[in-house]
Amino acid sequence: MTVPPTPDFENIQGDIWPGLTKKYQIFWFFRIEDADAFKPSLLQLLDDKVITSSADAQAHREDIKRAKTSQPGTLLQLAAVNIAFSFKGMQKLSNDIDGFRDDPFRKGMEGDMVTEGRDKIEEWMNEFKAENGGVDGVVLVCGTESTVKATMQELAQKYFSSKQGITQIKTLEGRERPGANAKHEHFGFLDAISQPRLKGFDKQCEKGDGNYQFMCRPGRIIVGHDGDMNNEAKSQHPPWAKDGSYLVVRKLKQFVPEFNSYLESEAPKLNFTGEQCPFASHMRKTKPRSIVVDRDMNDIMRRGIPYGPEVGIDETKTEQDRGLMFTCYQSSIGNGFQFLKRSWINLDTFPADKTKFTGGVNPGQDAIVGQLVKPILKEKHKRLTTALVDGNGQNSETSFQPFIQSNGGDYFFSPSLSLIGELGGRPMVN
Ligand code: HEM
Repeated sequence: MTVPPTPDFENIQGDIWPGLTKKYQIFWFFRIEDADAFKPSLLQLLDDKVITSSADAQAHREDIKRAKTSQPGTLLQLAAVNIAFSFKGMQKLSNDIDGFRDDPFRKGMEGDMVTEGRDKIEEWMNEFKAENGGVDGVVLVCGTESTVKATMQELAQKYFSSKQGITQIKTLEGRERPGANAKHEHFGFLDAISQPRLKGFDKQCEKGDGNYQFMCRPGRIIVGHDGDMNNEAKSQHPPWAKDGSYLVVRKLKQFVPEFNSYLESEAPKLNFTGEQCPFASHMRKTKPRSIVVDRDMNDIMRRGIPYGPEVGIDETKTEQDRGLMFTCYQSSIGNGFQFLKRSWINLDTFPADKTKFTGGVNPGQDAIVGQLVKPILKEKHKRLTTALVDGNGQNSETSFQPFIQSNGGDYFFSPSLSLIGELGGRPMVN
C-alpha cells in the first residue's frame, strides 16, 4: 500500500482546511487596475507572513483551545487573512492560465448562475454585475470583530491601495449570531457540523457503532491531491495550481419571518408526523449518502457565515437584510457547487424513483435554497413544491415561494502560497 504524501500545510490557505475561525468576517472585494503595480504587494504579503496558511490556522485553533482552559470566558483576539482571485483577476496577473479548464470558473458566477441559471440579475448587487466590471478578487479576514476591522484597515493601506493599483469595489461582512443562536444560521438550524473529512488531513473517527466515518479524498476539495477530477489526462490542472481550491462566495438573503409563518400555517394542515424526512430536505438534496455511487464526487467544504441583524419582535415580513454569506471550496465548481444547484437542489425529480413513497408526485425542490425557474412559462413554475413522506401513509405535497434570494457573488480561485509568489513575479516552479 502506498502511503499518501503528507500535505504541505504551509502552502495551503487556511480557510480551505482546517477553516479559519470566525466570530466575524470581512469580505473585501477588489479590482486590479494595474497588475504591475500590484505584483510587489503579493510578494510583500508573503514576506510579512500576512496570509494565514493551513499550518497557521491549526496553530490558531490550538491557541484558542489553550486560552479556553487557561482563561475561561475570555475571547482570544485574532485575525486571519486569505486571498482569492476570479478568472478575470487571474488573467490580469498571469499569462499562463489556460490550464484552468473548470468551465464555470472561466465563465464566472454571473454567466453561470444568471445567464444559464435561476438567479435574477435585478436582484444582484451592482458591484457583482459584469456590466459594471465585476470583481477581480476578494480578501477574506476572519476572527474577532475589532481585530478583523483593524487588520483590514491596515491591509487596505499597506497592500491594497490605489498606489498598488487596487480599487476597493465592495465590503461585505458576516457575523456569528448572538447568545444561544451562535453557530445557528438565520432560519434557526445549527450549522457547520457536517463537513467532508479529508483523508490524510483529518483523523478518521469511529461512528459509535464500530464503523468508521467515510473519508473524502482530499483532491475533491484541494487541487492536485488524490481525487482531483481535473487530474485526468484531458483536463489536467497545471502543476502550479496544486494546493489551491475554487472558492464560491454568494450573498444569500433569507426571508426568515416568511419562513417561520409558512411553517406555522402549513405544518398543522399536512398531517406531517416528522418521522420520515422528506427527500427534498436540504440535507438529503445536498448530500444524499446512500443513493450515489461515488460518495465524495460532489463534496464541498462549507465555510459560510450569517450576516445581518436578528429578526425584530414585530417583524412579520422581512424588513432588514439578513442571510448567509455562503462560501464553499471544491476542486471543481462543475462537480461541486454548480452540480448541487442544478442537478440536485433545483431539480424536482431528484432523487429519482421515489414516487412510490410520495404518492406519485416528484420529490420537489430543496425547501431551504430552491429557486424558481425563469422565465415563468407554466403555472407550475410559479411555486416550488416538496413532497412529504408521512409515517402514516398520508402522503402530501406542499408548495411555497423561495425563502432565499441570491444577491450575487462570484467564483474565485484560492491559490497556494507558492502560487501567490509566482503571481507576484517569482519564477514558476513548473
Ligand atoms: C441561506 C442558505 C442556506 C442555509 C440557511 C443552509 C443551511 C444549512 C444547514 C442548517 C445545514 C446543516 C448543518 C450541518 O449539518 O452542518 C446545511 C448543510 C449543507 N448545506 Fe446548506 N444552507 C444554505 C445554502 C446552501 C447552498 C447554496 C448549498 C450548495 C449549493 C448548500 C449545501 C449544503 C451541504 C452540502 C450541506 C451538508 C449536508 C450534509 O452533509 O448532510 N447549502 N445547510
